[in-house]
Amino acid sequence: MTTETVKKAANGLNGTVTIPGDKSISHRSILFSSIAKGTSRISGFLKGQDCLSTIACMKQMGVKIEETDDTITVYGRGFEGLQEPERVLDVGNSGTTIRLLTGLLSGTSFYSVLEGDDSIAKRPMSRVTKPLKEMGALIDGREEGNLTPISVRGSELTGIDYTSPVASAQVKSAILLAGLRASGVTVVREPSVSRDHTERMLNAFGVHVEQDPHKGEVKVEGGAELTARDVEVPGDISSAAFFLVAACMTPNSSLELKNVGINPTRTGILDVLEAMGASLEIYNERTETGEPVADIRVTYSQLKGTEIGGELIPRLIDEIPAIAVLATQANGTTVIKDAAELKVKETNRIDTMVNQLKTLGAQIEATDDGMIIQGGTPLLGGRVSSFHDHRVGMSLALCGLLSDTPVVVDEAEAVDVSYPGFFQELYRLK
Ligand code: S3P
Repeated sequence: MTTETVKKAANGLNGTVTIPGDKSISHRSILFSSIAKGTSRISGFLKGQDCLSTIACMKQMGVKIEETDDTITVYGRGFEGLQEPERVLDVGNSGTTIRLLTGLLSGTSFYSVLEGDDSIAKRPMSRVTKPLKEMGALIDGREEGNLTPISVRGSELTGIDYTSPVASAQVKSAILLAGLRASGVTVVREPSVSRDHTERMLNAFGVHVEQDPHKGEVKVEGGAELTARDVEVPGDISSAAFFLVAACMTPNSSLELKNVGINPTRTGILDVLEAMGASLEIYNERTETGEPVADIRVTYSQLKGTEIGGELIPRLIDEIPAIAVLATQANGTTVIKDAAELKVKETNRIDTMVNQLKTLGAQIEATDDGMIIQGGTPLLGGRVSSFHDHRVGMSLALCGLLSDTPVVVDEAEAVDVSYPGFFQELYRLK
């Protein structure tokens, strides 16, 4: 177990951070180039544990993947080029790997088994296995296919018109990937729009995906083939979020965040920061492989509390732990609702954040679908744990920037899942 100690940043945080690659887009770049025909070069790839799990799984299915310091080269041989893995596919801590792979594996002609770590073993898989079974997938697992290990016997699939009860890009993407192998058309509808990286990247790989964001509807036709192409992965706004929050709440701070993906399905945090009165400047806007990217200047200012719920939630779901920390420093109360999905992330993020923040002096209460945070509360030093949840670890670390005595974060190695080198960056900016 690794422990990190974060001390007060009396002079604020200042400097430039180049934001590491987007985790969602990195996963998709490997999956899609593996089933495409031809060679794809991926730059800006996030070498976090989760995305490395996706690479390892695809290698086990016979895909040749070469890794250098700055490029990943994938030699795709088409969907038919995938081979039956000899061993269980280990997804580590990665929900995106297991859910997207379950969709992809459903339409193969072979047998495979997926499992991951203790956190994955508790996370619900029926949200993907249920619709996939409706398409004709032969899937099994504990609790009738809800819990790992998940086994998939590849089979003939038929397109469906599926209305998902949750706004989840993992569910949508798993069904779309199966839809590529199914006969007929596959439609996925969701209650509000989740991140659309799959749709954008499939389009970039030559597959026509019809999107109607107003209706929360996407459509794909079976039999489409992917063509290899180079991919540039933008920086992850979910990683930038920790520095956005750090600068907003630590007096004397001003940070320049370079290379931040600003796909509108992900920018809920920017909307919330603006509503709270943050000083943000977004510039140098450009497009990389169908994804909008920009640089952001964020400067400390006194913020006010806000209400976060409804359609905003899927646009900032992974940033809520960091937003909870920020809300302890705003003037007034912040209410987060409609966020029950937090309970089925790497940990139950409502309970973990509320319990850990309380030990650091925060005035925060859990609700059924979110949390209520009283602002203007001094944070205290103390010992907390990530509970092996990367975003919990990084969010709690931020508290140490303000507390008079240090915040010690146990199980700090969890941050390697999405942001290797996070603590070094944080210490460098003081
Ligand atoms: C992700 C989708 C989100 C997000 C996760 C990554 C993806 O999960 O929380 O970190 O890459 O598709 P859900 O699809 O379960 O909302």
